[in-house]
Amino acid sequence: MALSPPAYAWLDGRIVPWDACVLHARAPGGFWGANVFEGIRGYWSEDDAQLYAFRVGDHLDRLGRSMKCMRMTVPWPARELAQACLELLRANEFRTDVHVTVTAYFELAETFDPMSYTEKAGVHITAVPAPSVAGRAEHGVHVCVSSWRRIGDDTMPPRIKTGANYQNSRLAHQEAVRNGFDTALFLNQRGTLAEGPGSCLVVVREGELLTPPGTSGVLEGITVASVADITARELGLPLRRREIDRTELYVADEAFLCGTMHELMPIVSVDRLLIGDGRPGPLTRRIHQRYLQAVHGDPAYRHWVTPTYQQQKVDA
Ligand SMILES: Cc1ncc(COP(=O)(O)O)c(C=O)c1O
Repeated sequence: MALSPPAYAWLDGRIVPWDACVLHARAPGGFWGANVFEGIRGYWSEDDAQLYAFRVGDHLDRLGRSMKCMRMTVPWPARELAQACLELLRANEFRTDVHVTVTAYFELAETFDPMSYTEKAGVHITAVPAPSVAGRAEHGVHVCVSSWRRIGDDTMPPRIKTGANYQNSRLAHQEAVRNGFDTALFLNQRGTLAEGPGSCLVVVREGELLTPPGTSGVLEGITVASVADITARELGLPLRRREIDRTELYVADEAFLCGTMHELMPIVSVDRLLIGDGRPGPLTRRIHQRYLQAVHGDPAYRHWVTPTYQQQKVDA
């Protein structure tokens, strides 16, 4: 179904009409994917008539780390970019769940040579309606281990959220879909599990909660860090970061993908082998429920969300 675009985007310091948010065709930020970006969700809470942006500050901190690795600087500090995200959401008057991307990109160098160093970098921010995928999580997803390996820190660092990395992700995801799976999981260069094309992996085995560490070829995920906080705080269950073998996943009790877009998505089979009894596991469901409450402004996790609209003063 074709969706109509929102009215506005944000480009290099100002709100512009959606169609005016464009880069030059030869800007390396576009044609080489020489950019770094963040995907941030906003959740509409009907009860509070509020749109809560989730962990905006943490996303912009990670954008800063990605920029550092790319030797990129932009004229707007993280604080201003956070404000720009909220300003854009307000301008579009969203009253629905949204997905915001903040992208810092390299502009055309004076020499036009995309390989040459340039200090010219800009930022664009776009936001589109993106309903929560919680409904899909009722059934979970069937995944395969990809024939494509995850990129490595010595080639295209997966720790950085750069657009170019997602060619690797697209190859794996689309191959998986062509072969009848919902998505894929990558092995890293050492042959242990890394992550999905756009999400981290968590495995439950014998009461332990495990995830591959940052050195396994994964993005340092904000959702997985949120899961770690929730389980430590509410269940006294730490999330252990260690390498995970492919066959450990085959014999796991539960597993789930987690990421901004996927939220918590139970994995119900891998390579056509059922995980547990082939249904979303009880621990996964419990953590997922708390995660959804947190992103919608649950008081215990209020420090993670930023309200977009001015809050009405309520007289006691
Ligand atoms: C490759 C990859 N891994 C992991 C994640 C999960 O990261 P986060 O939870 O910060 O969205 C994402 C999503 O952005 C991703 O693209």
